[in-house]
Amino acid sequence: MSEHAETTPPSILIVDFGSQVTQLIARRIRETGVYCEIHPFSTAGDAVRALQPKGIVLSGGPASTLDQNAPAIDPALLEANVPILGICYGQQALCVALGGKVEAGHHREFGRAEVTIKKPASLFEGVWDLGTDHQVWMSHGDRVVQLPEGFEVVGTSTGAPFAMIANEERRIWGVQFHPEVVHTPDGARLYANFVHNICGVDASWTMAAYRNKMIEKIRDQVGTGKVICGLSGGVDSSVAAVLIHEAIGDQLTCIYVDHGLMRLNESEQVVTMFRDEYNIPLVHVDASEVFLRELDGQSDPETKRKIIGRLFIETFEAEAKKLGGAQFLAQGTLYPDVIESVSFTGGPSVTIKSHHNVGGLPERMNMQLVEPLRELFKDEVRALGRELGLPDSFIGRHPFPGPGLAIRCPGGITPEKLDILRQADAIYLDEIRKSGQYDMIWQAFAVLLPVQTVGVMGDGRTYEFVCALRAVTSVDGMTADFYQFDMNFLGRTATRIINEVRGINRVVYDVTSKPPGTIEWE
Ligand code: XMP
Repeated sequence: MSEHAETTPPSILIVDFGSQVTQLIARRIRETGVYCEIHPFSTAGDAVRALQPKGIVLSGGPASTLDQNAPAIDPALLEANVPILGICYGQQALCVALGGKVEAGHHREFGRAEVTIKKPASLFEGVWDLGTDHQVWMSHGDRVVQLPEGFEVVGTSTGAPFAMIANEERRIWGVQFHPEVVHTPDGARLYANFVHNICGVDASWTMAAYRNKMIEKIRDQVGTGKVICGLSGGVDSSVAAVLIHEAIGDQLTCIYVDHGLMRLNESEQVVTMFRDEYNIPLVHVDASEVFLRELDGQSDPETKRKIIGRLFIETFEAEAKKLGGAQFLAQGTLYPDVIESVSFTGGPSVTIKSHHNVGGLPERMNMQLVEPLRELFKDEVRALGRELGLPDSFIGRHPFPGPGLAIRCPGGITPEKLDILRQADAIYLDEIRKSGQYDMIWQAFAVLLPVQTVGVMGDGRTYEFVCALRAVTSVDGMTADFYQFDMNFLGRTATRIINEVRGINRVVYDVTSKPPGTIEWE
């Protein structure tokens, strides 16, 4: 058994052929209480040897098996002799590998479709009965037209006569539709049936088990060494810090670089929580003067982001040196950052924004990484945080960007503008919380525009800044819709901001989705 297989729980291997929804397969499987990992098709052979999974799911993908150099199934997957489920391209690739035939679609099938169950199969035993019809979600051009030996059709749809195929003896199934998306309403039950009943894996992947396993792992890795952790006030670094502290106590020191671009009272809250409530050694570096001095007069968004990124690293590094003797750097890296993406174009993607995080630090400082969240999705990190006793109000906080209020103050930044923005933002969030909408929104914040407009208050003329309010719903921050507030809510909030904040005399609401907008304004 490989070292990897000894330390991981019984698992399912997901082989990625580049589908947009591969991560959703992992989400569905993890929701069943089973551990799984995603690996690209090109390294799937190594993955199956290292992980020794109890079952394999082959994802969909944009390629066609009819293309030259089409991504193929590594023979090691078939030799592993575990149940296999092929989805869309995965089904077609299976057929090709086993001697069947795929053709370009006579008619392409996208979106909602119905499958009819023609024969019993263990893939849907207890979920779908013989002769019944079910809504599924299809997205394919090619389709299977000739089955490999030993396979039979167990379900059909109008556009895909071979919509569901099975070889019960070899324990291989294929579906042309996508059970991982919500538009296949029974998809989650199909996955649960596959992993529990077919692959025989119990629901033992819980955050309580994960917490214990990670505590052991951190102790093994760190020994008597010292670890430093950059706290940002966000959920990921906080959960990582609390978990590591539980494992190694005061061998951990947290560094909180306060760039002076946090929201109202936020720095005090972070420091109080970690120092006083969790008793975690914490260095609070007030570097706001340096940050604001270097940002002075800078209005270009990328320049601002780069200045903040550089100063953050320099400040953190200087503090870490002062502490001395730490060999380990803790980071709140999550699983989506670790998954190697499958690229068919190979070309570099365009940089929209230079994200600020501490990614470059470890090599620079010659430290080993401690990353106890590397195996988790964001909602699992939240569940782990709850398991560790972090308050719900903290766990459920909206994301906040590394460069802080600097990117919510388009154009030049001054301490006065930041102060105005902080007050408006606090009122806006207060109204959102009071109206019970906070948890329905992915992110909400105020932006202070570098524009002054004329207004009238009392009998006098005003000439003050415009405040824009933004609120979006999103699943992962990659795409977003603007949130549809009730107009009374917006009116009430605008009145409060204008009445209570000196320096703002007009409020507007941002109704741009992403794309074409981005969530932040810079
Ligand atoms: P955009 O504005 O690109 O933001 O639509 C997508 C998500 O990323 C957050 N964001 C950042 N987070 N460092 C971060 O840690 C950054 O530099 C950064 N820039 C944007 C943003 O708040 C949203 O959740």
